[in-house]
Formats: sequence, C-alpha cells, structure tokens
Amino acid sequence: SGAYQAHLRVWRGDADGGALEDFRVEVNEGEVVLDIIHRLQATQAPDLAVRWNCKAGKCGSCSAEINGRPRLMCMTRMSVFARTETLTVTPMRTFPVLRDLVTDVSFNYAKARQVPSFVPPAELGPGEYRMRQEDVNRSQEFRKCIECFLCQNTCHVVRDHEENKAAFAGPRFLMRIAELDMHPLDAAPARGLDRKVSAQDEHGLGYCNITKCCTEVCPENIKITDNALIPLKERAADRKYDPLVWLGNKIRRR
Ligand code: SF4
Ligand code: F3S
Ligand code: FES
Repeated sequence: SGAYQAHLRVWRGDADGGALEDFRVEVNEGEVVLDIIHRLQATQAPDLAVRWNCKAGKCGSCSAEINGRPRLMCMTRMSVFARTETLTVTPMRTFPVLRDLVTDVSFNYAKARQVPSFVPPAELGPGEYRMRQEDVNRSQEFRKCIECFLCQNTCHVVRDHEENKAAFAGPRFLMRIAELDMHPLDAAPARGLDRKVSAQDEHGLGYCNITKCCTEVCPENIKITDNALIPLKERAADRKYDPLVWLGNKIRRR
C-alpha cells in the first residue's frame, strides 16, 4: 500500500481529431480511476473534459473505456491494475466525441423516444393495479438500468457500424421493449401495438445475434441477453410461427 505514481494515457481531442497523451499521476490507497482523472485535471490538465456526477455507480455519467474495456470510471478501482501498468483511458467508441472523454450520447435519447410508453389499462384506476410478484421482479431487474449506455457502446452491431444505427435500438432499448411486452398490464396490444412485432420490424431485434457482450459490461449486472433479448426473440418467433396468428394475419390482410 501507500501512494505511487501511475502511468496514465488519456485521449485528448474533439470531433476533428485527437491523440493519446501521457501523464504521471499520484494514486492513493482505495482510489478509483475517476479519482485519478480528477487529480490529473486538478494538477496538470485543467481543461480536460470528463462527465461525472455521483461517484457511486448510480448516475451512469462516467462511462469510458479503460484499456479498451468499457467501464464506469467511478466503479473501477485502481487496485485491479498492476502499479507498473499503463492505463489507457479513452472515450466510448460508438458515440461521437465532443471533447476528451465526453461523448455525445444523443443517439440513445433518440432511440428512447421511439419506444411508445406503457399504456395503462383503461378500466383500472391508480392504486388498483395488481401484479404477480414474478412479473414485478422481472420489471425491477430491468429498471435497475442507470443508462450508462455501456451496453449500447459495446454491442458489435453498432460499435463499428455507423450504418446500422438507424435501424437498431440497441440492447438497452430492446430490453425496454421486452419489459413492456412482458408486462401483464400493458394495454398497448389492445390498442393495436404489438411490441414484439415492432421490436422486429422497427427496432432491429433481428440484428442481435445474442453475443452477450452487452450483458458482460452492464455495471448493474442485468441479464440483458438471457432475461430480455432472448425471451423477446422467442415471443416474436412464437408469434410468427403460430398458425392461428398466421391465419389471423392472412384473414385481416384480405
Ligand atoms: Fe448501462 Fe446496464 Fe443500463 Fe446498459 S442495461 S445502459 S449497461 S445499466
Ligand atoms: Fe448486441 Fe447484446 Fe445482442 S451485444 S448482439 S445486443 S446480445
Ligand atoms: Fe455516477 Fe460514475 S459518476 S456512475
């Protein structure tokens, strides 16, 4: 234990380009990467841009890539790295850089707006909703999301494929659709919105080939792939191959 000097390599630049810059920064016992970035800002690089808020893994602001691995800077302890190791800190790769470690994540807000919200059942008043505990639990797991967008940043469908962004909502928002589709009180289907069909047709569910990279980087340990994406795919497939649904669609189309 005791203080030491870490070798930090931080990406500096903006939308027009940039480069990695090397620094030596003091590290003390118990510190996290965000502490070191703050010390760098305080002592050597006052104009370094970094986004953060809670320093407790709850606001989802401090997402970046550390040695190429997407993580929250405030939840990554310096003690997980060797003292001699060079730590390379870069902005999330999937979103456009604004400056230094700060990216423009508005892609995600645009995708969020494209998912129609929960439709309350018409006949029930507030306080009259009743749900089975297992349905509540499932929603609660998905609701742990802190919108750090690390999963969105990591998914290979968009990570190096700008061209897929328009058609693909990404794991975080496909999970949101899954939550609503499995919600026993969501009245959207009764109003003609089949969420699994729209997941396929409008939000690019078919692009996901269940590589699970999203799940691996989620700081809330949400089982995005197993509990949201795969069930949603199964529900979508059931619907497609269900002969009654198929017949219903055919009749309706005539
Ligand atoms: Fe972050 Fe997990 Fe939410 Fe994705 S699902 S935005 S990784 S908290
Ligand atoms: Fe992407 Fe996760 Fe599917 S990483 S491909 S959304 S399982
Ligand atoms: Fe809030 Fe890291 S600063 S999650």
